[in-house]
Amino acid sequence: MSHSRVVVVTGGGDGIGAMVVRRLASEGWSVCVADIDETSATAIAADLTDRGHRVIGVGADVSCEADVERIGEVAETELGALSGWINNAGNTSPSMLLKMEVDAFDSVLAVHARGSFLGVREAARRMVRSESGGAIINVTSSAGLGGTVGQINYASAKGAIIAMTKSAAKELGRYNIRVNAVAPSASTEMTRTIMTNEKFAKTYLSRIALGRFAEADEMSATFSFLLSDDAGYMTGQVLSIDGGTYMVS
Ligand SMILES: NC(=O)c1ccc[n+]([C@@H]2O[C@H](COP(=O)([O-])OP(=O)(O)OC[C@H]3O[C@@H](n4cnc5c(N)ncnc54)[C@H](O)[C@@H]3O)[C@@H](O)[C@H]2O)c1
Repeated sequence: MSHSRVVVVTGGGDGIGAMVVRRLASEGWSVCVADIDETSATAIAADLTDRGHRVIGVGADVSCEADVERIGEVAETELGALSGWINNAGNTSPSMLLKMEVDAFDSVLAVHARGSFLGVREAARRMVRSESGGAIINVTSSAGLGGTVGQINYASAKGAIIAMTKSAAKELGRYNIRVNAVAPSASTEMTRTIMTNEKFAKTYLSRIALGRFAEADEMSATFSFLLSDDAGYMTGQVLSIDGGTYMVS
């Protein structure tokens, strides 16, 4: 990118977000890691700072408006004008539809849907103000594309994120702000859990066209690409990184 390379990664203290933070830092991005688990956010920031990268950690809840505004403020004050923002933070509260409590529905919608909305809005306000354009990435899931069993709250939130991505892309294109979504498959941690159950692992793998789980870098590479000028003519898209598990005609 020709302008500053400053990016916020929500939920960057662990899992997929942490893989993305490490990749972007190694590519020269200045990264603000925002996570409700402040300890993990500051730990990854300290580790990467020790390795010579420019990374800060912020404790924040993405479902809280004031917290998201604070993330934007801290990131720009300490690192410079934002050119990227990744809405990756997520939670789950699974149960079958017939048993699902309203609280379980609301709490998952609050983090994924409201949290992504707040992140997109905060990033866009700052990018519009600096007139330098930028790239926003939202994290959805095959659950949001094709539905799932036992997580109607999560699938609803991820479906909302897809529609939000397209709507924001349409509104923000004229400011040269691109908004895309990625739909990852099992992260390293989840893969480990699946692999401990031989029968489940076999069933799971049989659904993946490539017949194997993702390497960490295969996941983070797509995030890096979508932030880069190489994706300069892409907006409003959903990219699946799932070895061919979910395919749309
Ligand atoms: N792991 C998968 O198989 C998979 C598949 C498809 C999509 N996803 C999506 O990828 C994203 C990352 O998932 P993951 O598997 O790495 O999860 P994870 O649980 O390993 O990490 C999520 C991170 O988000 C943080 N977080 C949770 N609630 C937060 C909040 N309110 N505010 C700020 N931070 C918060 C957590 O502390 C954690 O560090 C999520 O959006 C998830 O829905 C994951």
